[in-house]
Amino acid sequence: MSKIAAEVRDGIQIIAISNPPVNALSHEVRSGLVEAVERAGSRRDVAAIVIYGEGRTFPAGADIREFGTPPVAPWLPEVCNRIEAVEKPLVAAIHGTALGGGLEVALASHYRIADSKARLGFPEVNLGIPPGAGGTQRTPRLCGVEHALDLMLSGKPIGAASAAEIGLVDKVVDDGLVAAAIAFVRELARDAAPVRRSRDAGRELLDGIKAAASIRKRKDRLEAQSRVLPAPARIVECVEAAVNLDFEDGLATERRLFSDCLASPQSSALRHVFFAERKASKFPELSTGSAHSIREAGIVGGGTMGSAIAAACLQSGLKVVLVERSEAQLEKAAGIIERIFSESISRGKLTEPRKTELLSSLEMSVECGSLGKSDIIVEAVFEDFAVKRRVVAEMEAVAKRDAVLASNTSYLDIDELGRALAKPEKFVGLHFFAPANIMKLLEVVVGDRTSPDAVATCVGLAKKLGKIPVRSGVCDGFIGNRIGAAYREACDQMLLDGATPYLIDEAMRDFGMRMGPFESMDLSGLDISWPRRKRLKSVRDRRLRYCRLADALCELTRFGRKSGRGFYLYDDIGRPRPDGDVLSLLEDIRAEAGCQGRPFEFSEIQNRAHAAMVNEASKVIEEGIACRPSDIDVVEIHGYGYPRWRGGPMKYADDLGLESILSNIRIFGETDPLFWVPSPLLAKLADRGSAFSDLN
Ligand code: 3HC
Ligand code: NAI
Repeated sequence: MSKIAAEVRDGIQIIAISNPPVNALSHEVRSGLVEAVERAGSRRDVAAIVIYGEGRTFPAGADIREFGTPPVAPWLPEVCNRIEAVEKPLVAAIHGTALGGGLEVALASHYRIADSKARLGFPEVNLGIPPGAGGTQRTPRLCGVEHALDLMLSGKPIGAASAAEIGLVDKVVDDGLVAAAIAFVRELARDAAPVRRSRDAGRELLDGIKAAASIRKRKDRLEAQSRVLPAPARIVECVEAAVNLDFEDGLATERRLFSDCLASPQSSALRHVFFAERKASKFPELSTGSAHSIREAGIVGGGTMGSAIAAACLQSGLKVVLVERSEAQLEKAAGIIERIFSESISRGKLTEPRKTELLSSLEMSVECGSLGKSDIIVEAVFEDFAVKRRVVAEMEAVAKRDAVLASNTSYLDIDELGRALAKPEKFVGLHFFAPANIMKLLEVVVGDRTSPDAVATCVGLAKKLGKIPVRSGVCDGFIGNRIGAAYREACDQMLLDGATPYLIDEAMRDFGMRMGPFESMDLSGLDISWPRRKRLKSVRDRRLRYCRLADALCELTRFGRKSGRGFYLYDDIGRPRPDGDVLSLLEDIRAEAGCQGRPFEFSEIQNRAHAAMVNEASKVIEEGIACRPSDIDVVEIHGYGYPRWRGGPMKYADDLGLESILSNIRIFGETDPLFWVPSPLLAKLADRGSAFSDLN
C-alpha cells in the first residue's frame, strides 16, 4: 500500500502520510511526499495544500533505520526545500509528535496548525547529530536564536501552546485538526495571500549583539565536552551559520556538520541504544503470556528501596499498600516517601496539591493481611534468604488468587525462594535500582517456573512506571550485579598490582563512567556488599588473589559516604577526598598478599576493566541469562552509569573488534590465568570475525 494518499477536496489538495507506527520519513515516504506536493503545485484545480499524518502522529522524524546505510535520493533536506518552493499556500496539520525531520517538514511548510495536545521538538541531539534538513536554519528564523538553541540542545519536545508562543506554530486547535487546516488555507487562497517561507522569515531575530552573545556563551561551554559528544557544539555552529550566512550557505554548513556527526562513533552508539532500549522489552514470554492489569501494588519492607518503589508506584497513579514490621518502621518509611515527594516538588516535577492527592492513595500497615487486594506484591526486606523466604510465604498466604508475587533481591536465588510457594509460577524477581523512583532500569528475573502471564504483568508494570524492563535469568547478581562483580574484581586485582582506588576512579570517569567503582561502593555503602563477600568466602577458589581492602574498611566501620569515611574521607557537605590511611592499609594488604606494586596508565586500567565486563557479559549471554547482547548495554547504561555515547560495553567491544578484546584477555591471563578465563562465546565470535551485534 502506498505510504502517501492524495485527494483533492473542493480545490484543496490533502496529502496524508501513512507509515505506521510513527510515520517516519523513509525513502518511500520522502519520494511520495515530494511528488504529491509538486504535482499539486502544478495542478490548475488545486488552490492550496494540506499535509498531515495518518494514525497517531505527524512524522516523528527521519527513519533512523536508514542512517548508516547508503543515502538514497531524494534526501530530506531536498524534500524540505522542494516543499517550501511550491507556489501555493501549504499548511502542515500537526498532531501527536512532530519530531526531528517531521518538524523540519512542518517548518518547510508555509504555515503550521497544531492540535493542542501535539508536541514538537528536535531530539536529534540524543542520537548524536544536529537536525539535518534545514531545522537549524529555519528554526532561529522563526523563533530566534535562544529558543532554537534550547529546543535543539535539550532535545526535549514542547507543547503546541508553547510552540505557538515562540512563533513555531501559527494556530492551535482543540479538535478537528484537518478540517481547521483546510479552512485556514482556503481563506489564504481566497485572499490570494502571498506564499510565506521560513527561509525568508525573521532576519530581525537573527541579527544583533544578543544572538552573538547567546552563541558565544553556549559555544564556550560545549566546546570543552565536544571530544566526548560533538553534536551539541556542532548544533551551535549551525545556528551561528544561520546568523552569519545566507540561507543556502547555512544549509550547506548544516549538511556538512550533520554528515560529520552521523559518521561519528558516538552517533552510531546512540542510535544503537535507541533501538536497544526498545528491543529490551520484547520478552519471549509476551508471545504467550497476557498481562493482568495492575491498579494496586503491595510492598513489604519500607526501607531505602521499598519506600522509593512505593513512591514510584504512587507517582504512576497506582494505589499502594506498604507493610512494615512496626509502627516505628512505618513512620520512617513515611518520612522517606515524604522526602522523595518534597524533592520532586523542589525540582518542579510535582505540586503540593498533587502530593496530597498521591499520599491519599497510600495505605500503611503492620499487617500482611492488608495486602489482600493488591494486584502485585513486591518484597523489599533485608537481603537475607531466611527472612525473605518467610516473607514471600506470608505474601502468598494473604494474596488474592491472581496476584503476582515479586522479590527485589539483589543476588538471592529466585528459584530457591520460589520453592517454598504453593504457586511458584506467580513468583518473579523485580530488581529495581536505587533510587528506585528515579532509575529507569528494572531487571525482571524469570525463574524456572515463572509463568508467561506473571512475566507479561511485570513488563506491563515496568511500562506503567516509565521504566525499561530487561529480562534476566537466574544467577548470582542477575545481569547487572554479576557483571559489576567481575568489573570490581578486575579493579581489586589492579589494587593488588599497584593502582590506587583514586587512580582507578579517575581513569574510569575519564572513560566516561558516571562514577568510579570505589566512589560508587562508598555511595551504596560498603556494608551492603559485605555479607555477600563473607558468603562467597567459603566457596572462593583459594588460588585466586583476594584484595581485602573493602572488608578491612568495614572492620574499621568505614562504610562509605553514610559514615563519612570509606575509600574516601567526606567533609560536612559530602565532598570526597583521598585518604593516606587507606593507601597505607592497601600497602599492608599488598605485602600480606605478596604482591609487588607497579605503575598503571589510565589506558591499561580502562582496558582491563572493560575487558572484565565484556568477558563476564559474554558468559551471561552464553548461559542464556540475558536474551541478547544489546540488553546488557541497556542494563549497564541505565543501571551502572556506563557512558551512553559509547553504546554500552557490548557495542563498544564490537567497535574495538572482539579479537582485540580477546587478545587483551589472553595477555592479562599470562600473569593471572585464574581470573582471566576467556568466555568460549567471545572466543568463538572473535575467531569467526563476528560481532556481538550478530546475536541481537
Ligand atoms: N525511525 C525509525 N523507527 C522509529 C522512529 C524513527 N524515527 N521512531 C520510532 N521508531 C520505531 C521504534 O523503533 C519502535 O519500533 P518497534 O515497534 O519495532 O520497537 C516504534 O517505532 C514505536 O516507537 P516507540 O516504542 O518509541 O513508541 P512510543 O509511542 O513510546 O514513542 C516517539 C513514540 C515519541 C515518536 C518515539 O518513538 C521517538 O522518540 N522516536 C524518535 C524520534 C526521533 O529521534 N526523531 C528524530 C530522528 S533523526 C532526524 O529526524 C534527522 C533529521 O533531522 C534529518
Ligand atoms: P533496608 O534495610 O533499607 O530496608 C529493609 C526494610 O525491610 C527495613 O525497613 C525493615 O524494617 C523491613 N523489614 C524487614 N523484615 C520485614 C518484615 N518481615 N516485614 C516487613 N518489613 C520488614 O534495605 P534496602 O536497601 O531497602 O534493601 C531491600 C532489598 O532491596 C534487599 O533485598 C536489597 O538487596 C535490595 N536492593 C537494594 C538496593 C540498594 O541499593 N539499597 C538496590 C537494589 C536492590
